[in-house]
Amino acid sequence: MNKPLPAAILFSGTGSNLTAIAQAIASGRLPVDLRLGLCDKSGAPGLERAREFAIPTVCLPVKNYASRYDHETAVMQAIDASGAQLIILAGYMRVLEGRFISHYPNRILNLHPSLLPAYPGLHTHERVLAAGDTWHGSSVHFVTETLDGGPLIAQAQVPVQKHDTPQTLAQRVLKAEHQLYPTVIGWYAKGWLRLHQDQVFLHDLPLANPVRFALPGTEEG
Ligand code: GAR
Repeated sequence: MNKPLPAAILFSGTGSNLTAIAQAIASGRLPVDLRLGLCDKSGAPGLERAREFAIPTVCLPVKNYASRYDHETAVMQAIDASGAQLIILAGYMRVLEGRFISHYPNRILNLHPSLLPAYPGLHTHERVLAAGDTWHGSSVHFVTETLDGGPLIAQAQVPVQKHDTPQTLAQRVLKAEHQLYPTVIGWYAKGWLRLHQDQVFLHDLPLANPVRFALPGTEEG
């Protein structure tokens, strides 16, 4: 078993991905030590979930700071104090500044609910339905200064069904994410995954395209 990699997980909302990651750790499948659960929204349900897994949590609402810059400084201080070597963004709904990103080179992973490069930004489920797409999904990528534009690592695709609403589609995407994200984090924690000069390597082989999963159990609502 690998020595667990110290990590911080940042979130803003429900924390279902945090839960999936914490469950994978608890079951021994994921060699990660979640040293910090950091949230920017007071009362976010994810805070309670983090506490259930005994993850040290801190809530830093941006309104408590004089500026976004000060807020981000506090976030960085909390991460650095935790000793985290990997930053896991799991529904953290803030845009990170270049200073933050360059402070953790090649060490920030993000989960985005679309098949990037399609639909960066917000409201992805609504936009997929409005476009009449037949496939949707989620992507994990390294974070760079281009919003939702960092090098792609892996994607999980799910079908769009005829009577889908943004809510039913979001649930299907979440279910896929709960398998996708712990898998990719595991690759990183085991030293199988790295980024060098904007090129993703998995097992020392350059990835020409993101690894694509059509996960079992995501075919139906
Ligand atoms: C997830 O679907 C994730 O892909 C998305 O937020 C949701 C968080 O759910 N992230 C973004 O939109 C980032 N731009 P959760 O709080 O239940 O894990």
